[in-house]
Amino acid sequence: MTAAMKSLTLLGATGSVGSSTLDVVARHPDRYRIVALTAHRSADALLALAARHRPRHAVLSGLAEDRALRRRFMEEAGAELLFGTAALEQVASEPGCDAVMAAIVGAAGLGATIAAARAGKQVLLANKEALVMAGPFFMRAVAEAGARLLPIDSEHNAVFQCLPGGANPGAASVRRIVLTASGGPFRAAPLERLAEVTPDQACAHPNWVMGRKISVDSATMMNKGLEVIEARWLFDAAPSSIEVLIHPQSIVHSLVEYIDGSMIAQLSNPDMRVPIAHALAHPERIESGAAALDLAAIARLSFERPDAQRFPCLGLAYAALGEGGTAPAVLNAANETAVEAFLAGRLRYTAIHDVIRHTLERVPAARADTLEVVLEADARARRAAAEFAATLQERAA
Ligand SMILES: NC(=O)c1ccc[n+]([C@@H]2O[C@H](COP(=O)([O-])OP(=O)(O)OC[C@H]3O[C@@H](n4cnc5c(N)ncnc54)[C@H](OP(=O)(O)O)[C@@H]3O)[C@@H](O)[C@H]2O)c1
Repeated sequence: MTAAMKSLTLLGATGSVGSSTLDVVARHPDRYRIVALTAHRSADALLALAARHRPRHAVLSGLAEDRALRRRFMEEAGAELLFGTAALEQVASEPGCDAVMAAIVGAAGLGATIAAARAGKQVLLANKEALVMAGPFFMRAVAEAGARLLPIDSEHNAVFQCLPGGANPGAASVRRIVLTASGGPFRAAPLERLAEVTPDQACAHPNWVMGRKISVDSATMMNKGLEVIEARWLFDAAPSSIEVLIHPQSIVHSLVEYIDGSMIAQLSNPDMRVPIAHALAHPERIESGAAALDLAAIARLSFERPDAQRFPCLGLAYAALGEGGTAPAVLNAANETAVEAFLAGRLRYTAIHDVIRHTLERVPAARADTLEVVLEADARARRAAAEFAATLQERAA
C-alpha cells in the first residue's frame, strides 16, 4: 500500500533546514506535495524554489506589496505571491495543508508556528526559539487544537526516537535525557583568544553546515541552552533531568536513560536530512539521502562535560529556565540581539554572554500567561540588550 500524499507548507524555505527539507521532499514526489514556501526577503532564491516545487502560495514576509514581482511568480512558477508577516500565519493555517515545517530562524517564527498549532496541523518544529519563548503557551495551543508536534532539532528528534513509541517519557521510567553537543569551533581554543574571534570563525562549525545565527549559538553553546529549554517543554521533563554532554564527533545525537540503567541512543551521520525524513514520514521510515554510518571508520566516540568558564551561556539558559515565566523569552531576545551585533562586527564574541546576563538582570521575569506578555518581554529585552551592546561598543572604541 502506498502512503497518502501529504501536503506541506515550508516556512523558511530559503534557509539551511528549508533546503534540506526540499532535498528530502524531492526524493519522494509520490508522498509529498509542497503547497506553500516562504522566505523573508530572498525573492530570487524563493522564485527558483517555487519554479521547481510549484506551490500554490509563496510568501515574502519582509517585503511590501510588489506587483511586478507578484506577476513574475505567477508567470514563472504558477504561484500566488503574498507579502508581509500576516501571510506567514495565513499559509501556516490554511485548510489545504496537512503539515507545516517551521524553519524560520528566531523569534520571527513564533506567530506562524503557533498559528499552525492552533489550526491543528502536524508541526515539524525546527524553530526552537518559538518554544523557548512561549513553552507552556505553545504546548497548550498544541493540546487544545489536537496538533501533532514532531521535533526536527537533531537532538530532540533523537530523544523522540529513543522514547517508547515516541511518546512522552512518563516521570516513572525515565531517569535522564542527555543532549549531546559538538562543542563548536572553539571547544579547544585558548580561552584568551576568544575575545578576538571573527564571525566567520564562529560560523565555521566542525560538523554541521547551518545558518549563521545557529552557528554562533553552537559556538557559544547557547544553542544547547535553548535546546535544554526546548526539551523541557517537548518532553515534559524536569530541568534537573536534562543533562548536556559534549560529544565532538556529532554521531550520537542524544540519549535517554531509563531507571533500570539502560541508555538508548540514536546515531547517524551529522546530516539534517535524517531527522527531517524521520519527522516527515513518522511513523514510517523513508530514505533521507544521508550517507550510511560507518562506525568502524569513525572508530572512537568520546564524551566530556562542558566547561562552564568556556561556555557561560549554557548556565544562563538553565538559570532562565529555573526562573520561569518570561525569563526564557528575555534570554532568547537578548541572545538574538547580541548575536546580530556580533555578526555585524559591533560586538566581541565574549561580550555576547555579558549582554545576555545584563539583560536578564535588567528585565525582571513576569508571569507568562498570554502571548502579549511574552512579546512585550521580548521587546523590552531587545531594547535593553541593544543599549548595553552599544555601550560596550563605545567603551571599546
Ligand atoms: N540549520 C540547522 O542545521 C538547524 C538544525 C536544528 C535546528 N535549526 C533551527 O531551525 C531554524 C532555521 O535555522 P536555519 O539554520 O535553517 O536558518 P537560516 O539558514 O538562517 O534560514 C532562515 C530562514 O528563515 C527566513 N527568515 C529570516 N528572518 C526572517 C523573518 N524575520 N521573518 C520570516 N522569515 C525569516 C529566511 O528567509 P531569507 O532567506 O529571505 O532571509 C530563511 O528562509 C532555527 O530556529 C534554527 O535554530 C537549524
